[in-house]
Amino acid sequence: MTKGIAQKPAHDSRIFLETFGCQMNILDSELVQGQFHEAGYHFVDRAEDANVVLLNTCSVREVSENKVLSRLGKLKERKESGERLVVGVLGCMAERSNDELSKKRPFIDLMVGPSKIHDTLALVEAALAKTSQQETQKSLSYFVKRKGPLKNDSLSTFDDLETLDRMRAVDDRASPWQAYVRITRGCNKFCAFCVVPRTRGPELHRPPGAIIDEVKRLTDGGALEVTLLGQTINHYYFDEHDKKWSFADLLFNIHEQVPSLKRLRFLTSYPRDFTDDALDVMRSCERISKYLHIPAQSGSDKVLREMNRGYDLETYLGLIERAKARMPDISLIGDMIVGFPNETDEDFQLSIDLLRMVRYKNVFVFKYSPRPDTVAFKRFTDNVPDEVKKLRNNSMLATQNQIALEHHQTMVGQRYTVLCDTESKLSLDTEPLELIKLRPKNSDDVNLCGRTTGDHIVHFRGKKSLIGTLVTVKIEQARPLSLGAVIDP
Ligand code: SAH
Ligand code: F3S
Repeated sequence: MTKGIAQKPAHDSRIFLETFGCQMNILDSELVQGQFHEAGYHFVDRAEDANVVLLNTCSVREVSENKVLSRLGKLKERKESGERLVVGVLGCMAERSNDELSKKRPFIDLMVGPSKIHDTLALVEAALAKTSQQETQKSLSYFVKRKGPLKNDSLSTFDDLETLDRMRAVDDRASPWQAYVRITRGCNKFCAFCVVPRTRGPELHRPPGAIIDEVKRLTDGGALEVTLLGQTINHYYFDEHDKKWSFADLLFNIHEQVPSLKRLRFLTSYPRDFTDDALDVMRSCERISKYLHIPAQSGSDKVLREMNRGYDLETYLGLIERAKARMPDISLIGDMIVGFPNETDEDFQLSIDLLRMVRYKNVFVFKYSPRPDTVAFKRFTDNVPDEVKKLRNNSMLATQNQIALEHHQTMVGQRYTVLCDTESKLSLDTEPLELIKLRPKNSDDVNLCGRTTGDHIVHFRGKKSLIGTLVTVKIEQARPLSLGAVIDP
């Protein structure tokens, strides 16, 4: 959809949208925002300046939900003081805690689960119509969560959602050089700890033609890097009358049919069913990032079994070996959970051993958080004390930092192309002295931050105008979480 003729919105409003959680939510928020822009609405940067506040929420861990509940507390105060305000909860909390939220927080005007986000604009407009009629005392509640059991039969929902993806604006994006493209919705895995299959519904794959077309449009609109999204992305499968598409076919076709795209990445991979075909395509297609986000969750077969992950350590390490044999420089990113019920010191040690064997580029470490309605919640007691979870969390991060530092040290002195993303948040005071010494004395230069194709974070000095471009840099300094560099002289 190109930017249409500016419309006059049905209501005078200032919208604030805050996004919590994963890349899928970031993409959903972009699509919702596009819907509102198209209808002529504008967004503000602070909740205080808005008369419509939308929170796109995450339920994966309790801490993510608590952040949203605290935001809602502030919004309730504003409503109680008589302010006319529309409050909307979008995303996984709207789906998971719908009943609880509506009972305890009746001031919420609308709740929209992830499979209904295409309805957000219509619902906000309905809520605005109510408030403009002075009916501020009684809030409207729209419960638009998916109804009925989780079955893979929601074709009409798929159509509505599909339209939202297909209609996305490509010429009005905050960071046009980077884009997420969904290829698969939902998840069928039901790992014992995870709410995602309940909040995002069953696995549904988008048609390859629509995906390739979206990547083309985004690239024409200035995207240098596209990241394909799916919860278990390597499970992608699409049956067309004359062709059965695998994930490997999709990757290859995007690479070949969109030659102007500089970087193609994908996440998140599931450690089972990752075929050699897909690894071969990654190896042979130059512009596909040698990058795999492939969560193991644990290094103990006993814990993996209780997590219902569907693979054992040997299978996981076998995949890592197959990937490294083809792409020795591949960047591996992991997720690990510490303190899953009944995790012993020995189990934890096996997870640490796994980190040392795989040598990830980085690992996201999570303390187990029991989530209502999951199998782990029903079956196990959360019996690893929080103190122990914290110790394991810190010890795992310390191990990983050491591994990452050693890996980063091997990059010093080499040249890399980075996609310059942002002005760096590193301040002069907190930067190590060595990096400051690297700075050329050009007063126009600012601190910049970019990422290599393997997702290494690189800080360097340069002109602000480099943001959104590919820059060649020489690595000068290694740190556990990032690298310091100079622009290639
Ligand atoms: N495949 C998904 C995973 C979604 S959840 C993806 O697209 O990333 C992201 C990560 O959160 C999981 O890999 C897991 O490590 C962590 N996680 C999920 N549920 C959790 C829970 N109940 N407690 C702690 N961590 C959890
Ligand atoms: Fe969650 Fe497991 Fe799916 S972690 S998103 S249920 S693969």
